[in-house]
Amino acid sequence: MTYDNILSDYQNGITTITINRPKKLNALNKDTIRELHNAFDEANKDGDTKVIIITGSGDKAFVAGADISEFADFSVEEGGQLAAQGQAILFDFVENLGTPVIAAVNGFALGGGLELAMSCHFRVASANAKMGLPETSLGVIPGYGGTQRLPQLIGKGRAMEMIMTAGMIDANQALGYGLVNHVVEQDELLPLCEKIAGKIMRNSSVAIAKAIKSINAGYKDGINGFDIEIESFGNCFGTEDFTEGTTAFLEKRKADFPGK
Ligand code: COA
Repeated sequence: MTYDNILSDYQNGITTITINRPKKLNALNKDTIRELHNAFDEANKDGDTKVIIITGSGDKAFVAGADISEFADFSVEEGGQLAAQGQAILFDFVENLGTPVIAAVNGFALGGGLELAMSCHFRVASANAKMGLPETSLGVIPGYGGTQRLPQLIGKGRAMEMIMTAGMIDANQALGYGLVNHVVEQDELLPLCEKIAGKIMRNSSVAIAKAIKSINAGYKDGINGFDIEIESFGNCFGTEDFTEGTTAFLEKRKADFPGK
């Protein structure tokens, strides 16, 4: 599939999705959100794609937020719909994908940009990255899950301060907060993400999808994550990947997993 606002490129088990509106610092307009949904869906269904990496084009921004020009004159109803639709088709969708998603944060990740990075399974940042939820400076609050995922990732007090001050933190502070897992120079960002993807790809995609589901379950209201873990653990015993993984170990060879 071809897109107007994003690029999607498959190589060696990895689909790299690049948000490609550099003149607007990759701000997320409605069309870009829809295209991202389609690209993530396509990569997730593609049996060859074992890991998805998402990044922004240019050396300045991952995503500088939702496109402010699109919602500046919205009504109360339209504002609510914007958040609900965006969460359903992109942010919750990405978080719950069975294929691992790594955010390669290559510059500003603000507002919806940081919310998108936080929806991914984990984040790696370049040294020039700056992250924040500046919505209260615009008279609004984060609407793509930011008030929920930021406290989950960095703790309530830090999230309160970041959201109330609308300030930005740099890559090293984000590393100290646990918001990103690694910080590297910009030209090392995609190579490091690909290296991590390579390590992930050696393992069972089927088991990884179940691990994502179990981990996410612990953050969902009304769902007992331990119960989901028990069910998913049991289900692993009926998979070809489990047979291959355990047989390979006992035969002292590397496992060759059948795939997604
Ligand atoms: N929505 C729409 N357009 C945006 C945008 C956004 N979230 N962020 C940046 N842009 C546009 C700018 O309007 C500008 O467009 P123009 O050249 O047509 O005027 C272009 O991207 C470049 O941005 P600019 O502000 O000139 O770059 P800068 O280096 O001076 O500042 C930022 C960079 C990220 C600090 C600044 O762009 C910014 O504060 N953006 C908004 C961040 C925000 O509040 N996001 C949350 C939205 S809910």
